[in-house]
Amino acid sequence: MSQFMSPSSPWPAHGGQAEALLAHFGLPADHRLEDFSANLNPLGPPAWVSDWLAKQLAGLERYPAPDYAAARQAIATHHQLQPEHVLLTNGGAEAIFLAAALHAGKRAAVITPSFGEYARACRAHGLSISEIALPAPDFTLDVDSLTAGLSDIDVLFLCRPNNPTATLIDMSAMEDLLNNTAAIGCRVVVDEAFIDMVGETSQEASLAPLLARYPHLMLLHSMTKFYTLPGLRLGYLLADVTTVQAAQDHQPPWSVNHLAAELVAPLLADDAFARRTQRWLASERPRMAQALTQLGLEVVPSQACFFLIRPSAAQEITTDALFEQLLRQGILVRHSHNFAGLNGEWLRVALRDEPDNRRLVNVLKKELHDCLR
Ligand SMILES: Cc1ncc(COP(=O)(O)O)c(C=O)c1O
Repeated sequence: MSQFMSPSSPWPAHGGQAEALLAHFGLPADHRLEDFSANLNPLGPPAWVSDWLAKQLAGLERYPAPDYAAARQAIATHHQLQPEHVLLTNGGAEAIFLAAALHAGKRAAVITPSFGEYARACRAHGLSISEIALPAPDFTLDVDSLTAGLSDIDVLFLCRPNNPTATLIDMSAMEDLLNNTAAIGCRVVVDEAFIDMVGETSQEASLAPLLARYPHLMLLHSMTKFYTLPGLRLGYLLADVTTVQAAQDHQPPWSVNHLAAELVAPLLADDAFARRTQRWLASERPRMAQALTQLGLEVVPSQACFFLIRPSAAQEITTDALFEQLLRQGILVRHSHNFAGLNGEWLRVALRDEPDNRRLVNVLKKELHDCLR
């Protein structure tokens, strides 16, 4: 996987990658940066995780049990499903690539703007790709026009809530879409990587209860965002039994390491951490939505742990200039040059804890004010 969009591009292909950006903008390698570019829960990982991992190290001397029974049972219980509907994966990223592998050589549709790995996984597995654009600035999806574009498509990839727009297709629109796609024989893959960040009702927000009614639906999950464990790699796929077995056939053996697999059940049992995260979201997200809007920025209403923003026409600063000024002020946000449909015009900023968020707003305020002088 390349670190950059292209060999000559200054823009990294993913969030983070501060070193390369600092070098490009002529800033010292030790320039202090707060990372608003990665959409991770600022409250995690749960405090007990490091001690707990240390105690599991002896298990590294053995291969993990290939069926990951305890982890799959914990996930199944969490979603009120049977373990046969669960495949544990090496991050949500592996689940995306397995979903593409299942449709190798067929025709896929992806939404733009959305997470770029769907298209990359499809290319890797020889699928042809049609892009279906969500219109700026509200990026809402119209089910009827989407369905009209799916008549010769085998599999549709959707992200819910969507990265990078933070918009959520509501449940009734999803049911309409699932009915329409069932009728035309188009598989629907929904990436729920950020579903736990929707809010108080995140359990209800997942489409997992619909799996029994719609066997052409597949759900992809990440456990790295909510629990702040991207380095550990942990995710899963939910689908009907046949699809789970077929996906497993494409998965390398022992794809999920012992530490990650053993951690699933205790993570899902940590209700206090989940409640604390929901309280943070319930207070910081509306506060930040208001604060960013009051700065005169365009702000896409968010149902996730990040915001898509851009300077409004009245603000005499380009998005790239704002990105650079923020970097100089010690704030790293996510550029949008490699999100199809955004053309670099927007910035994605993660929601962090209250002091960090306040600092972001203060720096933005100063930069937007200075550009008017
Ligand atoms: C929408 C979406 N899905 C999946 C992933 C992959 O997550 P994981 O770390 O679980 O592989 C990401 C990571 O940024 C993402 O943004």
